[in-house]
Amino acid sequence: MIFALQQKVAVLLCFWLPTVYPCDQTIYPVDPAVPFGGSVTLNCTSSCANDTELNWELSVRGDTQKGPGWISVSFVNITLWDFQPVCFGDSAKAPTKMPIYLYQFSSPDIHLASEIIAGHWHTVVCNISSLKVRGQIPTNINISLSSGGRILNSSQGNSSVEYTSVAKLEQDGAEILCVAHLKVGREVLEKTANSTLKVAAQPHNISIISSVTAYKAGSNITVTCRAEGNPFPKFTWDLPSPVNVEYSNRNRTVTIHSAQSSHNGTYQCHAQNPYGSDLAHIDILYEGKSRNWVTAVVVVVVVSLLVTVFIIYYRCRK
Ligand SMILES: *[C@@H]1O[C@H](CO)[C@@H](O)[C@H](O)[C@H]1NC(C)=O
Ligand SMILES: *[C@@H]1O[C@H](CO)[C@@H](O)[C@H](O)[C@H]1NC(C)=O
Ligand SMILES: *[C@@H]1O[C@H](CO)[C@@H](O)[C@H](O)[C@H]1NC(C)=O
Ligand SMILES: *[C@@H]1O[C@H](CO)[C@@H](O)[C@H](O)[C@H]1NC(C)=O
Ligand SMILES: *[C@@H]1O[C@H](CO)[C@@H](O)[C@H](O)[C@H]1NC(C)=O
Ligand SMILES: *[C@@H]1O[C@H](CO)[C@@H](O)[C@H](O)[C@H]1NC(C)=O
Ligand SMILES: *[C@@H]1O[C@H](CO)[C@@H](O)[C@H](O)[C@H]1NC(C)=O
Ligand SMILES: *[C@@H]1O[C@H](CO)[C@@H](O)[C@H](O)[C@H]1NC(C)=O
Ligand SMILES: *[C@@H]1O[C@H](CO)[C@@H](O)[C@H](O)[C@H]1NC(C)=O
Ligand SMILES: *[C@@H]1O[C@H](CO)[C@@H](O)[C@H](O)[C@H]1NC(C)=O
Ligand SMILES: *[C@@H]1O[C@H](CO)[C@@H](O)[C@H](O)[C@H]1NC(C)=O
Ligand SMILES: *[C@@H]1O[C@H](CO)[C@@H](O)[C@H](O)[C@H]1NC(C)=O
Repeated sequence: MIFALQQKVAVLLCFWLPTVYPCDQTIYPVDPAVPFGGSVTLNCTSSCANDTELNWELSVRGDTQKGPGWISVSFVNITLWDFQPVCFGDSAKAPTKMPIYLYQFSSPDIHLASEIIAGHWHTVVCNISSLKVRGQIPTNINISLSSGGRILNSSQGNSSVEYTSVAKLEQDGAEILCVAHLKVGREVLEKTANSTLKVAAQPHNISIISSVTAYKAGSNITVTCRAEGNPFPKFTWDLPSPVNVEYSNRNRTVTIHSAQSSHNGTYQCHAQNPYGSDLAHIDILYEGKSRNWVTAVVVVVVVSLLVTVFIIYYRCRK
């Protein structure tokens, strides 16, 4: 029984032995990712140190080096897209192949609209101008746009991503980051680009305030205008009178020294930048020479009192 089993095993071994290859070749690195025109060194090693037949089959010229149980080859300026070097051993075993993952992967480009204006729609596009792996357009790609750590949009299997939104003035100066990941062989490569948003805004949210809305002759009047906009607006004024006017605070403030009746009227402020303008106005009314008017009333009252007193006194004396 046991003898029969041994015999069977022996027969099996005889049957199998010729097809058991003593030496195995392995190539290192595995699935190398090499930029187009780049270089790589492949090392083919055998599990047997006596594997003297170890060799490369080369369709492209390369520098080989040999040692006990290994043979390496260096290629420079690789431009053959479907390059796949082959290593042979001395056994009848099939040769070992190693595809070179030749790729072109340029850094992404962020395309911003030439002019981004607050309140208007705009689109940010990030795409990759040069993208190939082993001569093909790869699908193992993803690309995303983000700002301040927030993902704006992303796409997978496509080398282009876009984000459309209404621009806000607060976004001026925000950094836009574009990150692309490409799987090449066993590696994941990353390329990034960044750009800064410039958001323009026409003048808006304008307001005007005055120290007084009614004044008496000789008083000082200060009128200040506020507005937002990018670039910051320039201010100009339409005033009832140019006399005794002082402009300050980059023309945001006008001061009337010792105002007269001619300063009565409408004060109009214009805020202007290349994207538009806005205006605001305020009426400031002249109230006359109030002190003289009060004096006049007092004088009239006093005089009439005196007259009355005099008349009463005169009549009483009669
Ligand atoms: C190839 O691999 C063998 C075995 O790991 C090593 O001894 C040899 O230095 C390597 N050759 C090159 C050129 O890296
Ligand atoms: C090489 O060595 C292996 C064992 O490591 C042996 O099986 C094989 O017969 C040897 N081949 C030659 C050609 O000497
Ligand atoms: C690389 O090869 C290409 C074409 O095969 C050639 O035009 C180019 O000059 C080479 N570059 C270098 C640095 O050898
Ligand atoms: C990238 O996007 C820009 C803007 O949309 C476009 O003009 C350009 O042709 C695109 N390039 C590629 C390679 O898709
Ligand atoms: C993009 O690809 C990288 C690498 O393949 C992966 O780590 C990441 O999760 C992917 N991102 C998305 C959004 O699919
Ligand atoms: C990639 O995206 C662009 C724009 O988002 C689109 O026009 C194009 O058809 C897409 N390509 C693929 C292969 O999905
Ligand atoms: C994000 O990308 C998809 C596909 O390109 C597009 O249809 C969508 O409008 C984008 N979203 C925004 C907010 O731009
Ligand atoms: C943006 O790009 C500049 C140079 O182009 C680099 O110095 C900076 O670190 C980048 N910023 C981020 C957040 O990647
Ligand atoms: C307009 O100005 C007021 C006060 O100056 C401010 O509270 C408000 O947020 C501003 N609005 C906008 C849209 O800027
Ligand atoms: C008006 O302003 C001037 C100088 O700016 C000051 O000397 C004067 O006292 C002010 N007059 C009044 C009525 O406040
Ligand atoms: C200030 O406003 C006046 C009156 O509108 C104008 O004539 C002048 O050019 C302005 N100055 C500046 C620096 O804008
Ligand atoms: C002052 O100006 C207002 C308009 O702003 C006008 O109605 C009023 O008649 C003017 N008063 C004097 C005394 O000129």
